[in-house]
Amino acid sequence: MTQTTTASAIRWERGDDGVVTLVLDDPGQSANTMNAGFIDSLDAIADRAEAESESIRGIVITSAKKTFFAGGDLKDMMQAGPDHAQEMFEVNLRIKRGLRRLETLGKPLVAAINGAALGGGLEIALACHHRVALDAPGSRIGFPEVTLGLLPGAGGVARTVRLLGVTDALLKVLLQGQRYAPKRALDAGLVHEVVDTPEEMFTRARAFIDAHPESIQPWDEKGYRIPGGTPAHPKFAVNLPAFPANLRKQLNGAPYPAPRNILAAAVEGSQVDFETAQVIEGRYFTELVIGQTAKNMIQAFFFDLQAVNSGANRPQGIEPQQVRKVAVLGAGMMGAGIAYACAKAGIEVVLKDVSTEAAAQGKAYSEGLLAKALAKGRTTEAKRDELLARITPTGDAADLAGCDAVIEAVFEDPALKHKVFQEIEGVVAPDALLCSNTSTLPITLLAEGVQRADDFIGLHFFSPVDKMPLVEIIKGERTGEKALARAFDLVRQINKTPIVVNDSRGFFTSRVIGHFINEGVAMVGEGVDPASVEQAAAQAGYPAKVLSLMDELTLTLPRKIREETRRATEEAGGSWRPHPADTVIDRMVEEFGRTGRSGGAGFYDYDETTGKRAGLWPGLREHFGGDGDGTRIPFTDMQERMLFCEAIDTVRLLEEGVLTSVADANIGSILGIGFPGWTGGVLQYINGYEGGVAGFVARARELEAAYGERFAPPALLVEKAERGEPFAD
Ligand code: NAI
Repeated sequence: MTQTTTASAIRWERGDDGVVTLVLDDPGQSANTMNAGFIDSLDAIADRAEAESESIRGIVITSAKKTFFAGGDLKDMMQAGPDHAQEMFEVNLRIKRGLRRLETLGKPLVAAINGAALGGGLEIALACHHRVALDAPGSRIGFPEVTLGLLPGAGGVARTVRLLGVTDALLKVLLQGQRYAPKRALDAGLVHEVVDTPEEMFTRARAFIDAHPESIQPWDEKGYRIPGGTPAHPKFAVNLPAFPANLRKQLNGAPYPAPRNILAAAVEGSQVDFETAQVIEGRYFTELVIGQTAKNMIQAFFFDLQAVNSGANRPQGIEPQQVRKVAVLGAGMMGAGIAYACAKAGIEVVLKDVSTEAAAQGKAYSEGLLAKALAKGRTTEAKRDELLARITPTGDAADLAGCDAVIEAVFEDPALKHKVFQEIEGVVAPDALLCSNTSTLPITLLAEGVQRADDFIGLHFFSPVDKMPLVEIIKGERTGEKALARAFDLVRQINKTPIVVNDSRGFFTSRVIGHFINEGVAMVGEGVDPASVEQAAAQAGYPAKVLSLMDELTLTLPRKIREETRRATEEAGGSWRPHPADTVIDRMVEEFGRTGRSGGAGFYDYDETTGKRAGLWPGLREHFGGDGDGTRIPFTDMQERMLFCEAIDTVRLLEEGVLTSVADANIGSILGIGFPGWTGGVLQYINGYEGGVAGFVARARELEAAYGERFAPPALLVEKAERGEPFAD
């Protein structure tokens, strides 16, 4: 017989054998979180466990949800401002006390991890003496807190350090937010056993209880030492100073407070007793949770990402559809990557180029990627062979019969794109979805070349396709709702994140990243030290430095885009305004013949034999009047000029109706064009700026006065500031 008591979020089920099962099962919620109900339940459960401890043989903690436990209550955290510091700290200590009381009860405590245990879930598990994880599909174990600007504050840092040692805890678990599949979590030392069935999981949990009637944690044993020694140990005395320096190098000096706090909590906590370590951890956690960066990152990487991926922008009422066979036209860099991404997701791919040989070269790209994956143990020979068998290279359009979707990635030439669609439109399935991966051409223009313009849509992938998670879906004027829904489903089917924009020159991503690059180049023209420009981009948190990015893209590209944009603007009766960067780029190309990396020389010099970047071109200072010491304009101005010009133009894109969702803008900017993650994305950056939207507007006006009218805040921004309203969907 089982006696059941419910303490709201945790069910107490006691069996005749004296083993208590604590079932995490927050009523009315799809997942368990550390909300107020849970915290009350934890206290109540600890009271009861202590009161009945004599008759308890052991405790198993498991969950009735699909996931074991989700983590902290992020909605609550979004509300926690600086005034809530003490309150947050006390709540944090209360959770820790609850877990600690169970951990030190003197009875074996086992986590039966039935599904994902991320963040708070792993913290609960680490408070247990033994962890058995079910190898459930898609289940992940780890501490992703750092990716949300937080640290695992419910004992996660203190216990991981004691379990694995300072170095492994930091590098394998805490600093990068790794999410391990159960078997990998076993290798990393986070769990003790991995099993295949729930029955086995409970059998193993009970076996542990039977074998260890008086369990205690290793760190509560007399004479316990942290594995690998503490940083006070002579071995660490050598390594310790390198920790902050390495961390800084990894982050490029970008303002991410979480890794710094994690490092501090781990190192300081390792030198004191467990209870004190938990308090230290709590202080560092509180500092993060009341700060702006965590809010930005939670907004983007949790709420916005969820909204975008779950289809907030997908037309309602259209049955989801899976693609079975896709035609990829053009097996160059992009086509080859797209073919791989589709085949990886289980879709049959017919990869067409001008000849079967050319198409086979595109397929060879997948072979290369898979060879690397195999060498690293990330795939098996069987899986590799299956994936490759799904890609059929061809030079013959007739082989595209039966394809229910087409993704075109031939040269960026409208006439050629029209031609290849004409060739295949009658061959593929009569209702096939027709997509172009153009990066600059208007979708509405390309749609003129197909018979079914309502089935035609832009699907803008990013390079390298296998690594870049974003796809920008572009709706042309004649694109139908059904095509939009199908394009959305296809992007999800290949496990990428779709944002949706309306047709416009450069769409959202290419247009906005252009401003970032122009701003960096313009500063060189103003005589700012080029090395400082690069450093400003890096320290603002951009993954690529601005001048090196320009070199990669080639200096001829902005000239081409500028000409096209100028022509289109003037044809439409608009007035064309040059950018200060234009003259720098023109001089670089025309006067110095420096067109970028592929041309062997750009803002950087490149080694003639290896092609490796060899340093900034000394001529930059000489010919553009460099100040030599980087003090011409304040460093903050350099960084904010880059961030602001992107943010301001994004607001214009909202005004123009090219963007229709704040979440799309935030996610697209981070995942597509490297807008710094700590900002929470391009519009969240405005929301989170000191003083909110009004503070941002005031600062934009200062930049406008100092650097030009491109920083003038658009009307929508000013309105938002006046109403005190953040950008939100
Ligand atoms: P690429 O030059 O590497 O490849 C183009 C391929 O198209 C070549 O293999 C060529 O043989 C093939 N092709 C030419 N005529 C063809 C025809 N009649 N039938 C079949 N195949 C034909 O170019 P890349 O970089 O892959 O770009 C392709 C498209 O993707 C362009 O529209 C480009 O603007 C766009 N794009 C490029 C990005 C990039 O980072 N390179 C990013 C996003 C989009």
